Amino acid sequence: MNKKNLPFGFNNDFEFNLLNIENFNQSLRLKALVKFIKKNKNVKGDYFEFGVYQGSSLLSVAILFKKLNIKKKVYGFDSFSGFPKYDLQDNIKNFKKLLLKKQISKKHYEKIKLFLKIKKFKQFSKPKNFYPKNISTSLNFSKNSQKSLLEKIKKLGLNNIKLVKGNFSKTVPNFFKRNKKISIFACNIDCDLYHSYKIILPFVWDRLNKKGMALLDEYYSLKFPGARIACNEFFKKNKIKPIKAISLDNDFERWYIKK
Ligand SMILES: C[S@@+](CC[C@H](N)C(=O)[O-])C[C@H]1O[C@@H](n2cnc3c(N)ncnc32)[C@H](O)[C@@H]1O
Repeated sequence: MNKKNLPFGFNNDFEFNLLNIENFNQSLRLKALVKFIKKNKNVKGDYFEFGVYQGSSLLSVAILFKKLNIKKKVYGFDSFSGFPKYDLQDNIKNFKKLLLKKQISKKHYEKIKLFLKIKKFKQFSKPKNFYPKNISTSLNFSKNSQKSLLEKIKKLGLNNIKLVKGNFSKTVPNFFKRNKKISIFACNIDCDLYHSYKIILPFVWDRLNKKGMALLDEYYSLKFPGARIACNEFFKKNKIKPIKAISLDNDFERWYIKK
């Protein structure tokens, strides 16, 4: 272990790949978040992730904190047993409604169609219909175990992580009720579904530091329309304007909110 308590330097892409951890130096999906963290180390509060799965992005942020000597806690919320029930809003067909209401662009919709075409092509045999439970490579994320993640965290010496297991509908209100003083410096909402976003957004907005930021992983998605629907409902009610992260790397959009 080096002085930051990490077993490896985490300087090369292969170190991250071998350990199944997103490389914060190269990740496009985390780019805006990583940039924010590097620039705003002194903003008060802790880091939160809603939707941890096997920890790819959570571990990445915890390692980045160690490397930058950031003393904040990294909280990760997940059922660790996959998606709970779905909402009608999660049906892939809702992208068409979003297009008709001009809540997504034509270009975005064309990408969704192409994505589904390729997914169907890859089945080779009978084309399948797609639902929230089979649209992702990891299906409904139920092949997961909090125990293995805890072992990995321990081996990596990441004593800055705290996992909160269970359905957000219980864990999130309980957590913030019990921890009235904790504020959010930065967070990553990466939980795909309408109902999950709907539960989390009011808590995040309430506790987000006025200089903090919250990344919305599925505000631009080719698979999960419910996340955008939940965000748009919340934004309308609370007069929030989401911000598009500028990226010249490709045209997959990344969005976040700030106060
Ligand atoms: C896309 S995965 C997260 C990916 C992860 N951030 C990574 O970097 O690999 C979505 C996760 O959200 C979790 N999730 C979604 N809705 C949830 C809810 N209502 N309660 C608890 N966990 C939920 C699922 O269990 C799943 O592990």
